Amino acid sequence: MERSLVILKPDAIQRRLIGSILARFEAKGLKIVALRLCRLTNQQTDNLYSVHKGKKFFEPLVRFMQSGPVAVMALEGPRAVAVTRKLLGETFGFEASPGTIRGDFGLSRGYNLVHGSDSVESATRELAVFFKEADYLAYELSEAPWAFNPAEDLN
Ligand code: RTP
Ligand code: MG
Repeated sequence: MERSLVILKPDAIQRRLIGSILARFEAKGLKIVALRLCRLTNQQTDNLYSVHKGKKFFEPLVRFMQSGPVAVMALEGPRAVAVTRKLLGETFGFEASPGTIRGDFGLSRGYNLVHGSDSVESATRELAVFFKEADYLAYELSEAPWAFNPAEDLN
């Protein structure tokens, strides 16, 4: 099953939106298989945002991401990467559609509450920065028999 790396950014923690945002992922049916509060190191932000190195927003972005605690998690489900990105909405709050997390909770450009891996390849790389294979908890949700038709192809 596909996994995505999601980070609730410092603004989400400081605005006490952890519960509201996690509720969106839970409501959709994604399974939280790893979850941790931490502060991001230089090495972690470098890896996470390596594609943005050299851009004018890179340094402020790193400062913001290290400005307070974050919640880092692995979400699992069919097409978890694309599904998560849809739940987040467009990058900037003022462009994100209502109904998405960024669209419902903010208007900012940079303070956009949540990070989600942008491809399956990025997810594999980003997840390895934070989690070892043994960190992913294997468990069944009690609703599973009603969440998916057993005959469905989940890929
Ligand atoms: P993220 O990586 O955080 O999930 O966001 P994203 O894929 O939607 O957006 P991305 O293009 O990867 O940009 C990473 C983060 O940099 C900040 N940003 N600021 N022009 C700007 O001022 C600008 N562009 C990007 C945002 O915080 C964005 O989430
Ligand atoms: Mg990105």
